[in-house]
Formats: sequence, C-alpha cells, structure tokens
Amino acid sequence: MSREVSNNLNGSKHDFTPTYNNRWPDRYLRAHRQLDYVIPQQARAVFEPLIERCMKARRKKRLKIVDVGCSYGINASLLNHRISLDELYVEAATRTGVLSSRDIEKHKAYFAERPRRDDLSIIGLDPSVRATHYALRTGLIDAAVTSNLELADMSDAEASLIRDADLIISTGCVGYVTDRTFRRLYTAASASRPWVGCFVMHPFSYDGIAETLTAFGLATQEMPELQQRQRRFSTQKEKRTILKSMKQSKMDDRYERSTGYIYASFHLSVPIAAPG
Ligand SMILES: C[S@@+](CC[C@H](N)C(=O)[O-])C[C@H]1O[C@@H](n2cnc3c(N)ncnc32)[C@H](O)[C@@H]1O
Repeated sequence: MSREVSNNLNGSKHDFTPTYNNRWPDRYLRAHRQLDYVIPQQARAVFEPLIERCMKARRKKRLKIVDVGCSYGINASLLNHRISLDELYVEAATRTGVLSSRDIEKHKAYFAERPRRDDLSIIGLDPSVRATHYALRTGLIDAAVTSNLELADMSDAEASLIRDADLIISTGCVGYVTDRTFRRLYTAASASRPWVGCFVMHPFSYDGIAETLTAFGLATQEMPELQQRQRRFSTQKEKRTILKSMKQSKMDDRYERSTGYIYASFHLSVPIAAPG
C-alpha cells in the first residue's frame, strides 16, 4: 500500500531548490558537498555493472540512457568521464577552482581533457532549463528533455529523443517526480522497453512508480543489499521527521539511526519476458 509523503516532508526537508536552476554548477555543488551528498558517487558502483548487464541482455554495444533529474549532468560526468564526485566538489569549492569559473571554455576543457567512454548516449530529463543547458554546453549529456512531466506531456520532438531508450536511471529525484513522470516517460519509450534503475531517498515511496511500470509489463524489485548513503541529515528536526515517516511506513531505519546518513533504496525494473 503506497503512502504519500510530501516532497518537502512538510517543510522539514533541507531545501536545495535555489541551487537547481542556475547558469553555473558551483552553488549546487557547494550546497550538496556541505551535507556530504554522495549518492551519485555511490550509485556509480551500482550503475556501471547494471549498464554492462543491460548491454549483454539487450545485445547492444551502445546504450541510450535517460537520467531523470539530470541537473548539471552529475551522473553523466561520473559515468561518462569517470570523474569522482569529490573531484567536482574540489573544483567548485574555491573561487579559483575550474568549476567556479564563469568561463564556459574552461568548463568545456575540464571535461574534454578527461577520457570519455563512447558507448553511452545520455539524455537528461529535468525542467531546470539552465542546469540542463550547462550539461549540454559542456557535452556531458547528448540531449535534454525539459518539459515537466509531473504537469504535462512532452513535445513530439522530446519524445523522439527517448523513443529508443535502453535504460532509465535516477538519483536524488524521486519525491520531486512521481508515477506521473514515469507514466509519461515510459509511454514515450515503451517501444524499446527500457530497464529502469532508480535510487530513492528514504522515506519516499517507490510504490506508485512500480505500479505504473507493472502496467507497462515490467517487474520491479527493491534490492536492499544495494541501498546506499544519500547524504547527512541537515538538522535534528529533519532527522526526527524522516525517522517518524520511515516508522509509519515500516521502513528499516537502522542505518539512519546508527550512521547519521539518510539512505536511498535501489529499485530495478526489467521487462517480464514474453511467454514462449
Ligand atoms: C537533488 S537534485 C539531484 C540531481 C542529480 N541527479 C544528482 O544526484 O546530483 C534533484 C533534481 O531533480 C530535478 N527535478 C525537480 N523536479 C523535477 C521534475 N518534475 N522532473 C525532473 N526533474 C526534476 C531538479 O531540477 C534537480 O536537478
């Protein structure tokens, strides 16, 4: 049974939203570093083997990935360039760091100088237009879908970008996005039946999204052994609210109680094989 949890936990959740839609990524990176936001780095260790598995199963040498809530291309920089999140944090931490500069050529060069795997095409989905524009300009993502799928369908041009997607991923975004986004996204991508692998911060529920994906013929599994640290609690109030909500939802809160970190659970949905 799904329990609705408001996306800002009734005002107790730390508010990162002023950092989401800026021209440059440094404010986002500094704000997230302060709370030791580590989920993209932790997620990479799960996404990389998942990408290999998905390639094998789909017999493909190149995958098209949709990153839901792609922001400034954080997951793309980690997956495509194997840059660590700490490296990004370092470059954004001081005024002299490359990612604090206001010269786009310096940003482009920073990423261009790094080896890039050439077997992933990453499409970013995020209504934060300035952030996705940054990810595009720096070449971190190949294309962007900026319609807010919580509110409306995407355009035909956007739908054509994701029509042949192989894998949908997400970190730090479920809560802002719900089954509404996944219904619209999967409707556009249903011909290629992409796998879906999402990290979901506690206490947000994935039930509604999993139910939606079931209707598209996917089986969803939560994999408790792959849960990862998302970030530290920001305040005692936030901690109390999250633990209370987790208790009400009968979630295992032992990790939150003993580490001071909020965790994210991992859910994988794959198409149920057609009979015969
Ligand atoms: C905490 S950030 C996570 C960014 C990135 N995935 C990461 O882990 O570093 C949340 C992201 O969700 C995006 N977001 C908010 N509402 C959204 C929506 N309706 N559809 C897609 N993305 C959304 C925000 O713009 C922001 O980039």
